Amino acid sequence: MILPLLIAACTILDPNPEATIGRDGDAPPESGESLYLRNCAGCHGLGGTPSDTSVKTLRGWPGDFAKFDSTLTIGPSTMPEFPELDSSARRKIFDHIRKFPPL
Ligand code: HEC
Repeated sequence: MILPLLIAACTILDPNPEATIGRDGDAPPESGESLYLRNCAGCHGLGGTPSDTSVKTLRGWPGDFAKFDSTLTIGPSTMPEFPELDSSARRKIFDHIRKFPPL
């Protein structure tokens, strides 16, 4: 039976599975790309182009960091709020979406 071994291995590799990377704490820093893929890509698309036209494209998005920051705090329309993303995580995601080629 390999399953108990896998569970044991996961417990050893991730002794604190409740800790979420990107939040305040001791977790290692997560890249902007990884933060984007985990939190945003489901709606905004892998490369910033959403499949749902009611979601804004992030390619060539004209806003500055202050606007970006308030968007994540407010959660406009059907977009959720992201209180768990601190300013360092937000800055990394902002830098990541700036790499998307504009439309
Ligand atoms: C559940 C779907 C969903 C998720 C997840 C999501 N968004 Fe959005 N986002 C939206 C929708 C819908 C809009 C358009 C809101 C509007 O036009 O009022 C939007 C708009 C935006 C805008 C443009 C705001 C403006 O006024 O121009 C930015 C920037 C943005 N999202 C960034 C992000 C980032 C970064 C993440 C991840 C941390 C994220 N979104 C996660 C649905 C989502």
